[in-house]
Amino acid sequence: MADTQRTLIFIKPDGVRRNLTGEIIQRFERRGIRVVGLKKIHPSRELAEQHYSVHRERPFFSSVVEFITSGPVVAMVLECPNAIEVTRGMMGATNPAQSPPGTIRGDFGLDIEQNIIHGSSDPEAAAYEIPLWFKPDELVG
Ligand code: PPS
Repeated sequence: MADTQRTLIFIKPDGVRRNLTGEIIQRFERRGIRVVGLKKIHPSRELAEQHYSVHRERPFFSSVVEFITSGPVVAMVLECPNAIEVTRGMMGATNPAQSPPGTIRGDFGLDIEQNIIHGSSDPEAAAYEIPLWFKPDELVG
């Protein structure tokens, strides 16, 4: 079996507003993925800008920061073998219009910005994002 891996996931303000939190967490838990950290938080502009800093030069940067700070999100650290690949498969493509039914975005969204959920894109992103959102003592393995 592959090594256990952790990833940073958050349900975006649209997903929280639409009461999709329980449905989404249930999908991960039923797959056998362990929730090692979980909290509801209204992200500050500073946190949002740091989180999306890799996209600072992209045309959508200010818009995505506005959106992520528009309301509470539910952030979590998930753990399982190949967690990044497994959770991204469950989430579907960044653009929900290109996500097949059965994926989270394919079942619940159509908008590339208001696309319900974020997940770390690769191990380097996870290593940056997890300590940005969670203190070490907020993670229980
Ligand atoms: S890309 O284009 O492949 O670099 O995009 P990606 O790294 O998958 O995700 C970029 C994040 O920014 C959000 N966002 C947009 N992406 C692309 N185009 C537009 N117009 C756009 N607007 C917002 C997108 O939802 C991704 O958010 P996260 O939280 O990373 O899923």
